[in-house]
Formats: sequence, structure tokens, C-alpha cells
Amino acid sequence: MKGTMRALVYQGPGKKVLEDRPIPAVNTPTDAIVKVTKTTICGTDLHILKGDVPTCRPGRVLGHEGVGVVEKTGPGVTTFHAGDAVLISCISACGKCEYCRRGMYSHCTTGGWILGNQIDGTQAEYVRIPHADTSLYRISAGDEEALVMLSDILPTGFECGVLNGKVQPGNSVAIVGAGPVGLAALLTAQFYSPAELIVIDLNDYRLQVARRFGATATLNAADASTPDAVMKMTGGRGVDTAIEAVGVPASFTTCENIVAPGGTIANVGVHGVKVDLHLEHLWSRNITITTRLVDTVSMPMLLKTVQSRKIDPKLLITHHFRLDHILARSSTSNRRAHVRHFA
Ligand SMILES: NC(=O)c1ccc[n+]([C@@H]2O[C@H](COP(=O)([O-])OP(=O)(O)OC[C@H]3O[C@@H](n4cnc5c(N)ncnc54)[C@H](O)[C@@H]3O)[C@@H](O)[C@H]2O)c1
Ligand SMILES: [Zn+2]
Ligand SMILES: [Zn+2]
Repeated sequence: MKGTMRALVYQGPGKKVLEDRPIPAVNTPTDAIVKVTKTTICGTDLHILKGDVPTCRPGRVLGHEGVGVVEKTGPGVTTFHAGDAVLISCISACGKCEYCRRGMYSHCTTGGWILGNQIDGTQAEYVRIPHADTSLYRISAGDEEALVMLSDILPTGFECGVLNGKVQPGNSVAIVGAGPVGLAALLTAQFYSPAELIVIDLNDYRLQVARRFGATATLNAADASTPDAVMKMTGGRGVDTAIEAVGVPASFTTCENIVAPGGTIANVGVHGVKVDLHLEHLWSRNITITTRLVDTVSMPMLLKTVQSRKIDPKLLITHHFRLDHILARSSTSNRRAHVRHFA
């Protein structure tokens, strides 16, 4: 397949351009080339643009989320064929290495989070997907729009936030950050019926959305009394699970201030600078701190919850635009909506 395509290219901190690039070709037998029909913008793309992710070098096509149609497969791909509608996992997994066999696809020795980071990504008309058999998921046509939310944000909110945070029936949970990832944690935390689901953000619009999505209370992080308010809401104990879904020191500190004895801080955010660990307060509180790069091992389960309408990821979509308009819409300064994707 020859020809050129449009692609959003990272050009170093603060710089991105929409460029013509050659359409990618199969270069390993297990590759597939996918024609991208929908993609979206992740908070991690914003971290890359801030210069927080040194593995992503200038010249890289951004994007690690998407659905599309298989255009071509290498001779080693056995489960997908040209014309198949597919969901792209943000994590490429060989399925065979030691980490993959442990279900830790994020650390696959020849994959992991490489899309839109170490290899060209999905904010383009076509993308090369390595380890296609174990990194793509078959979908039925028509579901595309909702399913693009499964490439990254729903598994991230669920695996890094809800599972690592050990959300339990009757527990109290705080989610710090109500971007798409925080809201995905909010939706999937409800699988476990926690008693309290407190959402904290700086953006009142996002807090309003969080209330619509099932938050039992919302608080603006700009208010210095926010940690005290959480204490009040939880009878002075704090929350059993504090999910950090921002990726800045202030939000992690908020989690440290509101976690209850015996509780868990589940870090989800991508951090670009060091964060203070307040062991002088925490050493005696029997807490657990977890970190995780999403593995997308929960993808088959999440697909079933979407197909059976237990959750509706479409709720997370507010704006649609075409790839040609991505430069106008993806600057951090005008990023007010939760998730945008383009047709
Ligand atoms: N661990 C993983 O595998 C993984 C995967 C995907 C995304 N992420 C990370 O998850 C984080 C969230 O992603 P997103 O797409 O929702 O990002 P986003 O930028 O859309 O949302 C972040 C939200 O945090 C809010 N915020 C900023 N400072 C705050 C503060 N001090 N207190 C409370 N809220 C504050 C912002 O108003 C915004 O609503 C990012 O750091 C992203 O890189 C991690
Ligand atoms: Zn992401
Ligand atoms: Zn592997």
C-alpha cells in the first residue's frame, strides 16, 4: 500500500503539527495496518506535549486509542483479516513473554505502551499495530463510537483506579481528577456499590458531569478546605480508596491527606515531576500505595459490560471533529470537554 496520509506529529514540548506522512507498511509478520475511523485525545497526550514523557521523541505520530478497520495483515496474523472492524488496545502485547503470561501486558518485552510513544500512533488515518492477534479486539460495526473509550480510559480507570484501589461494597471512595480517566473510574467503581463516591476537580463543569455519572458528592480542589470536607463526609476517617487521576503533585498530596487508616491510594496519573511522600503522617496509618500502567487485561470483561449496557461509555463523549481540525481542538488551553474524537 503506497501513498500518504494526514497525521498529528509531536515536535517537542508544546509543539505539534498536522503533516503528510507515508501510509505505514507491515514490517514484521505479526503486524496489521488499521485504517483508523475514530480516535480520541488522552491526558497522557497532554503530558507528552508538556514534555513529561521523555520516551516520546519529536517526530512521533501521537495517539494510542482508536477503532478502525483492518486494511492489511502480515503473514503471521491469524485471527484478523482485511475488512474486520477492530478496537485497538493502547497496549501492544505479544502474549508470549514472561510479563504477558502474567497478564502484565503493559510490560510486554516487545510491546507495552509503545503506540504514540515509541512507535507512531493512532491520531492519523492509518496505524501499524504490532502483535495484532493479541493487541486488537474484534467489534461489531455500529458500536465504534462507544468502544473507542475502551482502548485506554475505561481499562485505566478500572484497572489502575478501581481494582488497584480495592473498591468494595459499602466503602468510601474519592476520585481526584474528573477528566475522562477519573470519570471512567467513577463509572466502573459502581460495579462494586461503594457507599460514597466523592469526586474532586478544579473544573466545575466536570464536577457537574461527575454528579450526573453517580458521584455522591463533588468538591472543588481550589477550595483549601476540600480535605476537611472529605473528612467531615466520612465521619473523620477519610476514604478507604483515594484514586489519583490527574498526574500533578497537588493531586497526589490531596490523596495523602484524605486516605483513611487501612486505605489505599491508587495512583493513575502520569507524573512528570517528583512528588513528596509524607511518611511523617502516613507511616502509622497502614495504607497501601499502588501504581500501574494500564494492562488492558480487563478488555474482554469491559466489552461485555458495554455490550450488555451495564455501562454506557458514550456518555463520556462530548465533541466530535474531523482529523483536519485536530490542531484547533487539541490545545491544552481550550480543552474543556472530557473527550473528543473525530470521524
Ligand atoms: N496509568 C496509566 O496507565 C494511565 C493511562 C491513561 C491516562 N493516564 C493518566 O491519567 C491522568 C488523567 O487522564 P485524563 O485523560 O482524565 O486527563 P485530563 O487532563 O483530561 O484530566 C485531568 C483532570 O484533573 C483536573 N485537575 C488538575 N489539577 C487538579 C488538582 N490539583 N486537583 C484535582 N483535579 C485537578 C483537571 O481539571 C482535569 O479535569 C493523566 O495523568 C493521564 O496521563 C494514566
Ligand atoms: Zn492514554
Ligand atoms: Zn509480551
